[in-house]
Amino acid sequence: MRAICAAAVMCSLALTAGYAHSQTTAALDGAPPAEAPTHALPQLRSVMATHFKVGAAIEPDSIDSAADAALLAAQFSSLTAESKMKAGTIGVAEGQYNFEPADKIIAFAEAHGIAVRGHTLVWHFKNGDWTEAPDWFFDGDPKDPGYHDIVAARLKRYVTDVVTHFRGKVYAWDVVNEVISDDPHQVYRTDSPWYRALGKDYIAIAFRAARAADPDVKLYINEYSTDDPNKRAKLLTVIRDLQAQGVPIDGVGHQMHISINWPPLSHIKQAIDDVAALGLENQVTELDVSLYNDPGECWANPHACLPDIGNPVPNDIMRAQALRYRAVFDVFEQEPSIKAVTFWGYSDKHTWLTTTPATRTNLPLLFDANLEPKSALRAIVDASYQP
Ligand code: GLA
Repeated sequence: MRAICAAAVMCSLALTAGYAHSQTTAALDGAPPAEAPTHALPQLRSVMATHFKVGAAIEPDSIDSAADAALLAAQFSSLTAESKMKAGTIGVAEGQYNFEPADKIIAFAEAHGIAVRGHTLVWHFKNGDWTEAPDWFFDGDPKDPGYHDIVAARLKRYVTDVVTHFRGKVYAWDVVNEVISDDPHQVYRTDSPWYRALGKDYIAIAFRAARAADPDVKLYINEYSTDDPNKRAKLLTVIRDLQAQGVPIDGVGHQMHISINWPPLSHIKQAIDDVAALGLENQVTELDVSLYNDPGECWANPHACLPDIGNPVPNDIMRAQALRYRAVFDVFEQEPSIKAVTFWGYSDKHTWLTTTPATRTNLPLLFDANLEPKSALRAIVDASYQP
């Protein structure tokens, strides 16, 4: 979705840099990545324990299956609600909340000693009937001199009530999501209903309300394409502005929807280092590794996306993915400011990338559709393994 623009940026950069499109399905194949016995694999959460929490995004029904629940409990030390902690679910009406789906995830996490990160209090996203910024927040006449204060009060109340509900149960909140513009002439995302109603103030209002409701939870700004220097420069400007106003902000969440060839590792490392230099924490919040190096137009126009690789996917592509996962984890493990790395899912049976930006085969995660560990998992938990 909004990673639409994210990827548009990263893919157009890829083209400029001459990176994209070395990928053709026919030319690539070879022996499958080497097998490694499942029982010999150490648990992901244990291997990463000295570095950071390792998480997965889930839906409440993910834990209805005993096999999925067992895998999540064994492998992950952090969970994120893929959709059920967003305002589209929780914010039924002013002062009226639906916490039930999220509470199911919290109860599972508590029962298994897994931490939970909150995602996300404020997001602009709207597509047809699906909205994560419900209309009731913005009711009223924008020309009314009191309108700004009315919307600000609704936002403050929502953030206060939601953060209070989850106090002591989540260790971090993505307070705002995707507030930076992809337009080279804009810093803030001006096509957000929040920006239209409150200007940039909504960001500070949300952070301050979150801190007042829970003094201990870590407060994050979550964003995509932070590896892109232009996007990141804007993000850093916004953070410095918040810091100058004394707004409580603890860290940056890097969504990190990447592909097997893009972005370069040096760009990823720079994104982490630039945030750490501001005295903030980092988390990787939505990691997945797409098999496609699409041109930038693909995110606006699915016809421009690379054709379906088909299933089975050529072995060399799966091997490239395993090596890519190993390489990015090698970077993450060297960065002490990274407090958690969360995957946007856990099994290839459920990933947004099979429908966005195009409907086609994609296998971006660590476990296959049968919950078997992929070579990508082996590559990050076993240094001696050669995919
Ligand atoms: C963004 C959001 C996530 C999720 C993904 C893809 O990155 O932050 O909550 O919706 O898009 O589904």
